[in-house]
Amino acid sequence: MSDTTMAAQTAPRTDEPVLKIRNIESFYGPIMAIRGVSLDLRKGQIVSILGANGAGKTTLMKTISGVMDPEKGKITFEGREIQGMEPHKVVEAGIVHVPEGREVFPLLTVEENLNLGAYTLKDRAQIERDRELVFNYFPILKERRAQEAGTLSGGQQQMLAIGRGLMANPRIMLLDEPSLGLSPLLVKEIFAILKRLNEEQGVTMMLVEQNAQAALNLAHHGYVMEVGRIVMDGPASELMKSEDIQEFYLGGHHDEGGREQRRWKRKKTWR
Ligand SMILES: Nc1ncnc2c1ncn2[C@@H]1O[C@H](COP(=O)(O)OP(=O)(O)O)[C@@H](O)[C@H]1O
Ligand SMILES: [Mg+2]
Repeated sequence: MSDTTMAAQTAPRTDEPVLKIRNIESFYGPIMAIRGVSLDLRKGQIVSILGANGAGKTTLMKTISGVMDPEKGKITFEGREIQGMEPHKVVEAGIVHVPEGREVFPLLTVEENLNLGAYTLKDRAQIERDRELVFNYFPILKERRAQEAGTLSGGQQQMLAIGRGLMANPRIMLLDEPSLGLSPLLVKEIFAILKRLNEEQGVTMMLVEQNAQAALNLAHHGYVMEVGRIVMDGPASELMKSEDIQEFYLGGHHDEGGREQRRWKRKKTWR
């Protein structure tokens, strides 16, 4: 039984990269935040990007979703180059970015927030079906559909942020630290829903996480970023066994950054 679980976790659904990133460089003014990143996202996969604070994970997602333009490099989605495309065009193409910090509109209701996610769609019946789908995965949002989003708990707001992303009917979801600030129980609940969305709806996912344990449990493949570069990648089940990953992320209980930061600085860079 555990054999089939392992196989399901390591085997990508197909071998075709749906998103190809090649030698991306992105800057904030003179600061190079992404220093030549290349990675593949295969159809049906969940790929996790791990890395310490400031590694460039969010910048990478912003570059894919068109919020930032790369100075160099190519991003190919389903055979079409999308680097430098306007963010709404990227959404229309089928890539949705659920940003860090679960940004919902606090004074709008749950339902109004969801409707905003469907802004690229015109077919009312389709929007209705998508809303039902979101309510099916997140029943609490249905219960609270008329409530202002600002009155939801942190976990519910994260669910709403994900639900709003789903309303655009994405083929790829970019999820930036969905576990941030949530209790372990809620993280488990949300990750279980992400897994179902991946398996049942075929949504391909890129998941940025500092919670490496949860991320590698969910993901098929993982990449590790350090100072704007990919320094390691492999099947999630192998990364979990890697000594570096064990030491940096999985080695017991880290307190809020202090100890982890010191250990990080003491150690040489990988490779
Ligand atoms: N708005 C910004 N202006 C200038 N530098 C930034 C800005 N946002 C991020 N950076 C810098 O870019 C690098 C990567 O940041 P980020 O992508 O947010 O990392 P991560 O998401 O991995 O924590 C860091 O050195 C950070 O200080
Ligand atoms: Mg970030």
